[in-house]
Amino acid sequence: MSQINFGGVVENVVTREEFPLEKAREVLKKETIAILGYGVQGPGQSLNLRDNGFNVIVGQRKGTQSWDKAIEDGWVEGKTLFEIEEAAKRGTIVQYLLSDAGQIAMWPRILPHLTAGKALYFSHGFGITFNEQTHILPPKDVDVILVAPKGSGTSLRRLFVAGKGLNSSYAIYQDATGKAFDRCIALGIGVGSGYLFETDFKREVYSDLTGERGTLMGCIQGVFQAQYDVLRQNGHSPSEAFNETIEELTQSLMPLVAEKGMDWMYANCSTTAQRGALDWRHKFYAATLPVFEELYKSVASGEEARRTIETCSKLDYRAKLNTELAELRNSEMWQAGAAARALRPENNE
Ligand SMILES: NC(=O)c1ccc[n+]([C@@H]2O[C@H](COP(=O)([O-])OP(=O)(O)OC[C@H]3O[C@@H](n4cnc5c(N)ncnc54)[C@H](OP(=O)(O)O)[C@@H]3O)[C@@H](O)[C@H]2O)c1
Repeated sequence: MSQINFGGVVENVVTREEFPLEKAREVLKKETIAILGYGVQGPGQSLNLRDNGFNVIVGQRKGTQSWDKAIEDGWVEGKTLFEIEEAAKRGTIVQYLLSDAGQIAMWPRILPHLTAGKALYFSHGFGITFNEQTHILPPKDVDVILVAPKGSGTSLRRLFVAGKGLNSSYAIYQDATGKAFDRCIALGIGVGSGYLFETDFKREVYSDLTGERGTLMGCIQGVFQAQYDVLRQNGHSPSEAFNETIEELTQSLMPLVAEKGMDWMYANCSTTAQRGALDWRHKFYAATLPVFEELYKSVASGEEARRTIETCSKLDYRAKLNTELAELRNSEMWQAGAAARALRPENNE
């Protein structure tokens, strides 16, 4: 483990150099890793582990698209692909990668298979942190660990195939065997993490829920829409409004910000853009700070978890969700976006 200085704060980080794949294989050589769930994280993590030479099986309910996908990906029924409970029974490490709502529904049927010495692995702190609502209470004699890749399971797989890695956080909630740390890091390396940084279950879920409701998804859509609407109300065309709001950001600025940072971007744009951005960032900070404070409170009080569990477990949830998603998809801004994407040179060669 290394101590890395992140802008003045020293944190524990584990890199692939410190914990090489060979060590991970040694730590897990006697384990059967059961990946429960073949949605988004399930395929990414299980295929990376399999390609890295670990002993992996998949648990997925049969007769579903996810089951068919698992077969297409080379998992073999009765050998490496089982119904969820059967896989939980066979695994010594149980990676609980059902959706958060699915984890709650399946818990009473998984619990009997979590016998002494096994490890229960999560990629999200949700089920454990909000256990008053989820009722996910693991037995005291199993390890409870977390590796949360900071990105989609699809990216985890793509980056792995490209020889790169996605950073993950890791946490130990319960060390029953004395091996929890090694098991956790070995799995983190095995699933294709770049480096692993330390967290705990609560901080993982609080930051994750804040992030996706905030700058990653919720906030950014709200901000995009506000700017787009103001431009449109003032007579700008959809094409102009979309390009100034989103296309330039995603195509030109963000790749540079990813590579060099926003500080570099500020230092390397026109003086006109620079002056305006330096001045206006304070106003946007002040305007959004109270919303982020409200959001964090809602996460920490368990309200976001309550709302998620309640709405996602309703029978008509999927139909209502589809209506909301169609509204977004059919909005003028994202229809303009579809047209702008189709006009990109790479789509017209
Ligand atoms: N999405 C990401 O990239 C991402 C990133 C970081 C962490 N995570 C975490 O990783 C975990 C898995 O997330 P995910 O996004 O991969 O989930 P997901 O795509 O929603 O996967 C759902 C899986 O759960 C199964 N499932 C759902 N409800 C079920 C039920 N009632 N009974 C049995 N199986 C059920 C689905 O089976 P069917 O196909 O049969 O419905 C599918 O295999 C979560 O804890 C999530 O927070 C996800």
